[in-house]
Amino acid sequence: MMTSSTNTIYVLNGPNLNLLGTREPEIYGPDTLDDIAGMLEDRARELGLEIDMRQTNHEGMLVDWLHEAQAEGAKAVLLNAAAYTHTSIALLDAIKAIRTPVIEVHISDPSTREEFRHISYVGMAAVETVQGQGTQGYVTALEAAARL
Ligand code: DQA
Repeated sequence: MMTSSTNTIYVLNGPNLNLLGTREPEIYGPDTLDDIAGMLEDRARELGLEIDMRQTNHEGMLVDWLHEAQAEGAKAVLLNAAAYTHTSIALLDAIKAIRTPVIEVHISDPSTREEFRHISYVGMAAVETVQGQGTQGYVTALEAAARL
């Protein structure tokens, strides 16, 4: 297993985030996932970092990618686990199982929304949480990752 750290930041996105741009724009805004990738690429270039951005609708895939982030020596993971944030003990365990730091990201602020969004299993193990900043929050999280 490779253990040395690279300058790659994994940006992992969970269910329904492939529909950003058309999905509940009054909550998530007009930007698509490609727009976010573009913003991140621009900022990453300035920070001397590489972005590996992915999206899946499947919980186990996120678990596999977290393991891969460690195996590949990623510097950090930005994780918007979307609804799995609030349900997934498997993701909590995966974050605890790896040494790669994970920064939790949400476009909206789940703590001000429905009660079922107030618990975050991801947040129990993440080194930091960025939420309620819209899609710009991904850039804030990238800047936090650069400081790790
Ligand atoms: C979200 C917030 C979650 O509660 C929700 O299930 C999502 C998106 C966000 O980015 O604001 O799918 O993670």
